[in-house]
Amino acid sequence: MKIKFLGHSAFLIEACHATILIDPYLTGNPLAPVKADELRVDYIVLTHAHGDHLGDTLQIAKHSGATVICVAELAGWLRKQGIKTHAMQIGGAFRFPWGRVKLYTALHGSQTPDGSYAGLAAGVVMELDDKTLYHSGDTGLFGDMRLIGELHALDLAMLPIGGNYTMDIEDALLAVKILQPKLTIPMHYNTFPLIECDPQIFVDKANELGYEVRIMTAGEVLALPTERSE
Ligand code: NI
Ligand code: MN
Repeated sequence: MKIKFLGHSAFLIEACHATILIDPYLTGNPLAPVKADELRVDYIVLTHAHGDHLGDTLQIAKHSGATVICVAELAGWLRKQGIKTHAMQIGGAFRFPWGRVKLYTALHGSQTPDGSYAGLAAGVVMELDDKTLYHSGDTGLFGDMRLIGELHALDLAMLPIGGNYTMDIEDALLAVKILQPKLTIPMHYNTFPLIECDPQIFVDKANELGYEVRIMTAGEVLALPTERSE
């Protein structure tokens, strides 16, 4: 499985049986390594509807014919613009042909750029190929993350560290402690001034605690070796 960081909280996952995009904020993101019209994907997973997560979803979903997976209220808004959706809700899971997706709570708001109500903000656990990934979306630290760590043996956690709108480095370190992922990738920092921080501090402190963290630059690809043949 290949995981490409597209800057901010956007990731492109190339799994055995599908290409999945999470929170594709490209247009307007100074760090985005690709343009929306260069991406062809099967599914888009949205954690919430804020502009820096919804991003280029409408365009990419339309030209790819992709299905957007998200909470039901946001799915309803997307369907009105002609987008294919798979509506879910917090706590629910569904097994797609390529893997299982479960939505969890996130401590955050959600609203579409036109001001429409978009339901609750979510985090997502994806079990695909033989890997388990957690993308927390935008969230503050919350104690029930412990449950996510207990229910899932996480190979990878993608966690915000930029503060102001989400966890900062200190809170993200506590999140790592209770989630116990094999590897953590920090996200949602340094895209704009309000969320500036030094990710190396996160790496050093996590390493001191015995956890592995990988800083990804936008455009970089992480290969997660899977046991199943492709
Ligand atoms: Ni947000
Ligand atoms: Mn955000």
